[in-house]
Amino acid sequence: MAAARKRWEALIRDQKVKVLTPKEAGYAIKLSNKTLLDVRPSTEHNKAWVKGSVWIPIFDVDDSSDLGTTSKKITNFVMGGWWSGSRMLAYDKNFVSNVEEKFSNDTDLILVCQKGLRSLAACEQLYNAGYRNLFWVQGGLEAAEEEDFQREGPQPFKLAGIGGMSEFLGWTDQQRTFGINQGLGYRLVFTGRLLGLIILADALFFGSKQFGPWLQQLQSH
Ligand SMILES: *[C@@H]1O[C@H](CO)[C@@H](O)[C@H](O)[C@H]1NC(C)=O
Ligand SMILES: *[C@@H]1O[C@H](CO)[C@@H](O)[C@H](O)[C@H]1NC(C)=O
Repeated sequence: MAAARKRWEALIRDQKVKVLTPKEAGYAIKLSNKTLLDVRPSTEHNKAWVKGSVWIPIFDVDDSSDLGTTSKKITNFVMGGWWSGSRMLAYDKNFVSNVEEKFSNDTDLILVCQKGLRSLAACEQLYNAGYRNLFWVQGGLEAAEEEDFQREGPQPFKLAGIGGMSEFLGWTDQQRTFGINQGLGYRLVFTGRLLGLIILADALFFGSKQFGPWLQQLQSH
């Protein structure tokens, strides 16, 4: 990871890849007709995407069910995947050839992902494959304001990267930030879910005495 970071920093310092803020990327799409290439996995892309963007994932949900992957999936779930909703992702080794099929190496491409890391990895691969007009959206869609891009899909950009039980309960940082500007109704949905879950969990797993400490532990997560 440290080595990769050094390479990516050099990529930007040497201006092999140009940096755009989400707002600048939004202008570039609108005003100069550049292509926005979304490299996020399907789990994020399905929730929100930029109108007119092209979707080619560099990592996607690992569907393979061989024994090694299955045990890794179980570990991932037990180690917190149930809470964060993060799924096992696998690198798509056809990523570069999928891009090459659609775009010649002189095309202006603006690469975006949810947080800015995977798109930078994608920029490096495309640069190494001969692409010379690459732009990277710093901070990804999570750093975008809703007015920066025309959005399609059911969720705000900032919430597309979350999932699992923490999303269900409204306990992710992204939802807290978003919830500040929303009415009481938005928060009540999550309060209702939490109460429902407490009652359910109480009935299923816990005596009422054990439940308090468990909840505290969960909240400090
Ligand atoms: C923008 O790009 C699309 C697809 O490449 C093309 O069809 C369209 O004519 C372009 N528009 C402008 C204003 O260049
Ligand atoms: C870009 O593609 C063209 C045509 O396939 C090729 O001749 C050229 O060498 C490529 N450029 C780079 C920098 O790889």
